[in-house]
Amino acid sequence: MAGLYDKQAEEYAEARPTYPKEWYSMLAGLTPQHSLAWDVGTGNGQAAQDLTEHYEQVVASDISESQLKHAFQHPRVRYIHTPMSISDDEMVNLIGGGHENTVDLVTVATAVHWFDLPKFYSLVRRLLRKPGGIIAVWGYYKLLVSPDFDPVYNHFLEKSIPFQKPNVIYARENYRTLPFPFESVGLSHEGEPMTLEIPDEMSFQGLVSMLKSHSAVTIAKDQGVDLLSEEVIKEFQRVWGGHDLVRSVKYDAFMLVGKL
Ligand SMILES: C[S@@+](CC[C@H](N)C(=O)[O-])C[C@H]1O[C@@H](n2cnc3c(N)ncnc32)[C@H](O)[C@@H]1O
Repeated sequence: MAGLYDKQAEEYAEARPTYPKEWYSMLAGLTPQHSLAWDVGTGNGQAAQDLTEHYEQVVASDISESQLKHAFQHPRVRYIHTPMSISDDEMVNLIGGGHENTVDLVTVATAVHWFDLPKFYSLVRRLLRKPGGIIAVWGYYKLLVSPDFDPVYNHFLEKSIPFQKPNVIYARENYRTLPFPFESVGLSHEGEPMTLEIPDEMSFQGLVSMLKSHSAVTIAKDQGVDLLSEEVIKEFQRVWGGHDLVRSVKYDAFMLVGKL
């Protein structure tokens, strides 16, 4: 898994959307204290950076060192590389300075479906502040552009399915089947995520980078299958409306928010 994102770290940093600022205000409004937020599977740190507007300190961790190499730097974001081999006690040391009950908000942006969920959730239980701590996990799967474009993109997603890792099914099902053993705060609960939108401005080159950053594209390539052949890219360009066009697009997103 780490290897998968290592290979595409540069593409990833360029291509993926940032999340609306209102999401962070909404989440920060749910935690009584604002000392520490932990962004897990931070990638290049876009959520971590925006969390600094609401939390004094942000710890941002990722299993992939090369994702972290491409991360936005910020004086109040502490990036931590957390390989699979790291123990839970070491994690408590690294994230909470050796203390449990220290994290006001845990966020996981488009990454929780890759985690060992029982292990991760047990760590969250240790680290979240009690009472008051909140966990929010979110993701997106579909990009919506136009009636011409959307069927071509859906076809690309369908072709990607055989090369997706099994856990991607959680994202495909918009986290409706994702285990989420936390108490509702009135926004969503296990089995019923809230639905949101991520608006973005995208160039055609940005679209191509976004397509290339799909993990299934990397996996398919390793198996000798090119999901983004010249013909596919040409078709995308045709339905995009031209190489030089910058379009307003949106991603359909989903979020689960809970407390202990
Ligand atoms: C799709 S990217 C999301 C990155 C970023 N949060 C975003 O919103 O774009 C998934 C990230 O999860 C990381 N990841 C996967 N498994 C992980 C694990 N077990 N622990 C920590 N990070 C992990 C990957 O290295 C990658 O950076």
